[in-house]
Amino acid sequence: MEFEKKILCIGAGYVGGPTMAMIAAKCPRYKVTVVDINPARIAAWNSDSLPIYEPGLDVLVQKTRGVNLFFSTAVEAGIRDADIIFVSVNTPTKTFGQGAGKAADLQFWEKTARQILAYSTADKIVVDKSTLPVRTAEAMERILNNNTKNVHFEVVSNPEFLAEGTAIADLENPDRVLIGSQETPTGLAARKAIVDIYSHWVRRDCILESNVWSAELSKLTANAFLAQRISSISPISALCEKTQADVVEVANAIGRDSRIGGKFLKAGVGFGGSCFKKDILNLVYICQSYGLTEVAEYWESVVKINGWQENRFIRTMLENMFNTVAGKRIALLGFAFKADTGDTRESPALVIARGLLEERAQVVITDPKALDNARQDLHAVKEDLSFEADPYCAAEGAHAVVLLTDWKLYQDLDYQRILRSMEHPAFLFDGRNLLDHKKLFELGFNVFAIGKAPLKHF
Ligand code: UDX
Ligand code: UDX
Repeated sequence: MEFEKKILCIGAGYVGGPTMAMIAAKCPRYKVTVVDINPARIAAWNSDSLPIYEPGLDVLVQKTRGVNLFFSTAVEAGIRDADIIFVSVNTPTKTFGQGAGKAADLQFWEKTARQILAYSTADKIVVDKSTLPVRTAEAMERILNNNTKNVHFEVVSNPEFLAEGTAIADLENPDRVLIGSQETPTGLAARKAIVDIYSHWVRRDCILESNVWSAELSKLTANAFLAQRISSISPISALCEKTQADVVEVANAIGRDSRIGGKFLKAGVGFGGSCFKKDILNLVYICQSYGLTEVAEYWESVVKINGWQENRFIRTMLENMFNTVAGKRIALLGFAFKADTGDTRESPALVIARGLLEERAQVVITDPKALDNARQDLHAVKEDLSFEADPYCAAEGAHAVVLLTDWKLYQDLDYQRILRSMEHPAFLFDGRNLLDHKKLFELGFNVFAIGKAPLKHF
């Protein structure tokens, strides 16, 4: 079949892979190729065992792979062939030099821009999918159009708002798609080409158009606002624990105010994931570099409170387990940063596991999808650490069971069986307020939840 358009995506990660699978499924007349410098990742995309776990992704890939969706390591050929290139390489927080610990590390992104320039022989639209500091698209445009090849590049910003665990549903039915371009005739034509892709399945009034900088800043701001809600309910959860109020009841009551809304008010061990912290620190760095000190401090506090909440959880455990966990087996139920993903990047479970290991606890980790990543994250740990696929085996002989990821399967465990196999007094810390605390208390557990009065037998 002759394809109408050829789309390339550079970066086969959590964003690039699912997004391109959806575009391929919805636009059968477009050829979609995803390339990556990591051959193992591409091999996994071409196998039955995809490199990331995302509900519904395998079905989508099976339907389209080899038809109009292709995974390859041939970056050069891919670039040459494409009309539209999405850039979805990672932009982690810088770990060195100016802005270390805050600014985005743009080295992969710039290298990709230079590859696009080197291998292109005809005009192309380049779409920034990666989350980038404001005005980065402009920098890309400068790199690309500073050429003597008589090739013109139009750079469009199309930030991705999908959340892991619900990526397929978010892509299929997005609240909005945001497309920012220059407001020149060629910029508007490029914008239309990207609008045309999404119009295959997204309602036209959900496709928002803007200038490039608004699109870039909207992505950072959306993540900052979402994280800010969690960092607003976290301190209230601490206050609830002191005052016998219940944070779930408080969140429900305030969320019923339609001006506040009920989403993203679940108090827990804190937010994780590859985006929130990175994007806020990025925002902080941008504000600092424009001399907006108060603005930077305001947003930085959202990250600080999150770290405080994680550490507060460790302190609660210690205080209630008679101020020592040394030598005690502690089972962590869940290691992913949220349910329905195997991703452990910035997971609060990492901070909590490390904190407990420092206190010389015997930590055992279980998770239905994230054990491989957990092993990699903690490979340098010399202390007493083990991994267990079966939650019942993890809990056996433990002094405490600590729920850290909101996997539904943890609601359905046989807690009576778990209690029987544990040391006594048996402690249960629910870092996600997922379980039926009263029932667990009646079974015999000493139960500590977030933002609720403890239920203790002593
Ligand atoms: C994405 C975005 O790109 C990031 O900016 C946003 O904030 C979060 O989502 P994600 O898909 O989660 O990142 O990243 P990751 O899973 O690490 O995937 C990036 C891929 O790009 C990797 O597979 C990496 O091998 C690839 N890559 C990186 C290249 O192909 N070329 C490079 O030069 C660098
Ligand atoms: C987020 C944004 O939601 C998404 O739009 C953006 O594209 C990428 O960043 P993601 O990090 O995948 O997505 O997941 P999200 O559902 O936002 O959860 C982030 C963290 O916040 C998780 O650790 C989650 O457990 C936590 N969370 C979320 C809470 O603690 N309470 C809540 O009420 C909601």
